[in-house]
Amino acid sequence: MQLAKRLNRLPPYLFVEINERVGELRARGKDIINFGIGDPDLPTPSHIIEHLCQAAHDAVNHRYPETGGLPELREAIAEWYGRRFGVTLDPAKEVLPLIGSKEGIGHMALCFVDPGDLTLVPDPGYPPFSLGTILAGGEPYFMPLKEENGFLPDFEAIPDDIADKAKLMWLNYPNNPTGAIAGLDFFEGAIHFARQHDLAICHDAPYTEVAFDGYKPPSFMQIPGAKKVGVEFHSLSKTYHMTGWRIGMLVGNADMVNALFKVKSNLDSGIPQAIQHAAAEALRGSQKHIAEHNAILQRRRDKLIKALNEVGLTARIPKAAFYIWARIPQGYTSIDFAKKLLDEVGIAVTPGTGYGREGEGYVRFSLTISDDRLEEGVSRLSSWSRRRR
Ligand SMILES: Cc1ncc(COP(=O)(O)O)c(C=O)c1O
Repeated sequence: MQLAKRLNRLPPYLFVEINERVGELRARGKDIINFGIGDPDLPTPSHIIEHLCQAAHDAVNHRYPETGGLPELREAIAEWYGRRFGVTLDPAKEVLPLIGSKEGIGHMALCFVDPGDLTLVPDPGYPPFSLGTILAGGEPYFMPLKEENGFLPDFEAIPDDIADKAKLMWLNYPNNPTGAIAGLDFFEGAIHFARQHDLAICHDAPYTEVAFDGYKPPSFMQIPGAKKVGVEFHSLSKTYHMTGWRIGMLVGNADMVNALFKVKSNLDSGIPQAIQHAAAEALRGSQKHIAEHNAILQRRRDKLIKALNEVGLTARIPKAAFYIWARIPQGYTSIDFAKKLLDEVGIAVTPGTGYGREGEGYVRFSLTISDDRLEEGVSRLSSWSRRRR
């Protein structure tokens, strides 16, 4: 048997060592608090589940769905973008439901990348941005996200010949893993840069509804020129706590939406229809849980930041997304520090290098663990810092 060479181009999975260590420690009976996973711990709101159950009983929804999604869901997505961001979308041409945004992100590379093509990808960044390019035979060019630049890419620093050669640029705000945010002026700059170099933009925005201190993250689609050069990926995963149901969406430039539809219609058979009905209900129904969930996450954020400062980990206070990107003390690699936290305090975090070379010197804590586990983690960190003094 000979597997395709493209599989050898995928980088080694950096979390293997940490995951194995978590397994070993748990097998020895050690209680590990896992701050590593970005998956909401609170349940999907019950009105959405009730709608899903009703739709599951309807035999119409037992058959193959259409790749393009139910017209009702496309309309609900367009209406939601109108209400939330004041953005007008044509549900027939500028909206495409996805089997979770990760699926669409991975497949988008097939629409743009021929062997040897370049894409511009943030570092640190959500791994599927670069892995999609690699699987399609292309090369990611990494744009460093530096703390001194607010974790925004510096377009001026990208050599002209690279920008001219690249076909696609990935952006993601509110950002995973740094928790950084971007304003409309940044998106305007990105569109200007894309037009100068004939680039398409894919903005990934699953965290626009997870925000704190009264902040409301904008959408890239709010910029009048956005539809000419790009699209936005969004998701119901984080907003409605629906990670397990697998549903997201792509909106924006009709040609890019159609290109992804073309790829997907040859590879998948759409999203189970009962889930599409539940998603339309989520987007159209009560949104009151969003503020409630954000208040819970904000309280967790404040407690954890305080504990991290006590142990000498410095972190910006994130205004959105549910991650704390903490700078580790000098003298450790991020993997070594993650192992130390695991061995000495029983706390699992994600080493920054899992998101790219620029992640060295950082670890990521996710706020999506229950309040009592978070409290336990905070108290372990505090007693660790007292022991080390
Ligand atoms: C930046 C980013 N984009 C996309 C996703 C994937 O979300 P979905 O559940 O819609 O596939 C995640 C999930 O963690 C993410 O952090």
